[in-house]
Amino acid sequence: MASGRLAVAATAVLIGTFGTLGCSASSGESAATSAVTDGALPDAGTAQLHKGRIGAAGIGDPDFPTDGNGGYDVDRYRLKLAYDPPAKHLSGMAGIEARTTQDLSRFNLDLSGFKVAGVTVNGAAARFARTGDELVVTPAKTIPNKTAFTVEVTYSGEPKPVRDSSNLGTYGFIPTSDGAFVACEPNGAKTWFPGNDHPADKARYDFEITVPEGVTALANGELVGDPVTAGGKTTFTWRETHPMVSYLATMTLGRFEIREGKTAAGIKNVAAVDPRYSGSLDNLYTLSGKITDYWSTVFGPYPFSSTGGVIDNFSAGYALENQTKPMYGGFNPGDDVIAHELAHQWFGDSLSIRRWKDLWLNEGFATYAEWLWSEHKGNAGADRIFRTHYATPADAAIWKYAPGRAKPDDLFNGSVYTRGGMTLHALRQRIGDPAFFTLLKTWNAQHKYGYVTTEEFTALAEKVSGKQLDSLFDAWLFAPQKPTSW
Ligand code: TRP
Ligand code: ZN
Repeated sequence: MASGRLAVAATAVLIGTFGTLGCSASSGESAATSAVTDGALPDAGTAQLHKGRIGAAGIGDPDFPTDGNGGYDVDRYRLKLAYDPPAKHLSGMAGIEARTTQDLSRFNLDLSGFKVAGVTVNGAAARFARTGDELVVTPAKTIPNKTAFTVEVTYSGEPKPVRDSSNLGTYGFIPTSDGAFVACEPNGAKTWFPGNDHPADKARYDFEITVPEGVTALANGELVGDPVTAGGKTTFTWRETHPMVSYLATMTLGRFEIREGKTAAGIKNVAAVDPRYSGSLDNLYTLSGKITDYWSTVFGPYPFSSTGGVIDNFSAGYALENQTKPMYGGFNPGDDVIAHELAHQWFGDSLSIRRWKDLWLNEGFATYAEWLWSEHKGNAGADRIFRTHYATPADAAIWKYAPGRAKPDDLFNGSVYTRGGMTLHALRQRIGDPAFFTLLKTWNAQHKYGYVTTEEFTALAEKVSGKQLDSLFDAWLFAPQKPTSW
């Protein structure tokens, strides 16, 4: 989808930062050559020839230099996946329909682990190599700029989640007793399929998921036709027709009890719970419907084909805003967390960040939505909640971390959530309710299914309100100390 390629020379970022990677566009040709020598086909010694047309190993987010890739933009993933829970074995065929954004002699996909059996580009065998979490693909011939092409990757193995995250513990494809819990923010999609694993490249998704009979496969969007069972296995076909960020893709597997219907406003609503959470199914269904309908009046029309949620039996203790199917990891979610994850369908899912440092545009907004829901329900109002947080002493951690610039080694810091939410309340106080709520709707309408940055938000806030807001945003988003006013 419309590329979120940043105006940063990924090559410059890579040098010296990830010197061991060996597949950046400009680092020595020796690295480039070694990266292609262990592919499936003999190396034709073409690295020299390809100079200057190699897609970068990262999409250009300086905080995550090897996440995503350069040189192309994915339009659609067609994922054919089979998973066997007892053996923890995944075998996959990932079809990727993309378009070049430069003449492309070589490009990368993000993939962590697995054995790759073969790669084709436009139906012809391509050479490939693995370096770290990069799958480096060299097509038989250079693909000209602005040209559609297809890639097929055949791979298999035991999916391994990401375990080294400072804020999140484990994420990605996580095996459970009866299936899998798949929650991938920020960069865990690579733990189950090869792709452009960064929010700056949205795509459509087709899933064909085969599991042992009795296991249910849940993915984003809508089920296409009925599941088909043969020979002890069932295949579920799902399709997400709206653009989606890679970290929001899921294939959650297990035993599920499902309730399906429509919200009062007529939006399709699907709730699914692990049998351990049977008692929570009706509450999840009902509350998700009410909150989706309410957000549609506050933020603008619901952007996707259905709403709902999934409670799985993996005790993550956290939730993720998977597109159309927010997922709750091993707990019965209450109002706050459901309000939060459903607000993300607008802020994060429909409107997606181009670079991780702008994460407050997701988490600050979803946190503020919790306060708005509380206010709507006649419980504590946003102003009271804001004041409670503001009373936190000036030496508390939240005032030392400026939420407008999320840090890669501490991305999900509480400040990005709470102080991000407080920023919105400070803004609301400053510009008044009519301008503030017009701003929320205009923001959504302008960037529906697209990409956003903090600069775009602050500019729109000034435009809608007619006020100069630099000092407010500086104090709340960027200053590493407690703001003194709002
Ligand atoms: N975005 C989630 C939230 O606040 C938090 C989160 C980030 C997460 N990465 C995750 C949850 C991975 C589960 C798995 O709503
Ligand atoms: Zn969130």
